[in-house]
Amino acid sequence: MSITNLPVRSGSASAGIPVTKVTMPALAEMKRQGKPISALTAYDYSSSRLADEAGIDLLLVGDSLAMVVLGHENTLAVTVEEMLHHTRAVRRAVRRALVVSDMPFGSYHGTVAEGLTNAVRFVKEAGAEAVKIEGPRFELVRALTEAEIPVVGHLGLTPQSLNRMGGYRVQARTAEAAQKLKDDALRLAEAGAGALVLEGVPREVASAVTAELAIPTIGIGAGPECDGQILVYHDLLGLTFAPAAKFVRRYADAGSLIRQAIEHYREDVEHRVFPSDRESYHMPQGARTEMEAERANELGKA
Ligand code: KIV
Repeated sequence: MSITNLPVRSGSASAGIPVTKVTMPALAEMKRQGKPISALTAYDYSSSRLADEAGIDLLLVGDSLAMVVLGHENTLAVTVEEMLHHTRAVRRAVRRALVVSDMPFGSYHGTVAEGLTNAVRFVKEAGAEAVKIEGPRFELVRALTEAEIPVVGHLGLTPQSLNRMGGYRVQARTAEAAQKLKDDALRLAEAGAGALVLEGVPREVASAVTAELAIPTIGIGAGPECDGQILVYHDLLGLTFAPAAKFVRRYADAGSLIRQAIEHYREDVEHRVFPSDRESYHMPQGARTEMEAERANELGKA
């Protein structure tokens, strides 16, 4: 695994612990060594910091941001500016994980030059260490690689193709479609992609692609044989409002926890039990005596 040692952080759970930065070549090394890669989406400072401190290898500022953070119906509306804004917040939080930014819909669907210009912004203005693009865009992957921008590819169920696919459907279910996906994966790797997200494909297909590729595959709804797994932060923690997809494992019910805590706070405010005297600031004794004397004086005059 590769090696950029960063200064230790003070005043946190990770205080005093030196870190070894995860890089794109480190992910390839993990695949070679058969070490599973843990990945999670990330959108803001506090959650990214927790995920980084929990040892997640790759944090993806996913365009799922559009849905889980901004409340859009799908991922298509999120803009480059919004993705940059959130990538900066994640970047500030993370010391160890590889920070990858999703390029949003429309930011790389025109010319290769446009895609390149937008990708440079993610690296230069927001500190992304790689960008992720959906679909078999070999020419763009080659151009980004030549421009020293590491690329994560994304095949299978590509949410930015929602309108073409006619819904979020499992892809590559026929032998022919599976062969096409495998060919695309090999060509993306050959064009320079450093890793590949496989989303919403049968386990057998993901397993075969993973076995053939030298670069790591990171699965979401693609079975356990991928080199790594990624989940959406809000799905993992139970912070969503719709039934979860089949592939989601909910590791906590943070939604209920947060709702209960906020209800408790509201009740305390309504019953005037928050804040208490211990949660209040006090004047120094001298100033307090002076203020009380002045008040008594004013009341005497009235
Ligand atoms: O935007 C996203 O969340 C993704 C997934 C791979 C998790 O692209």
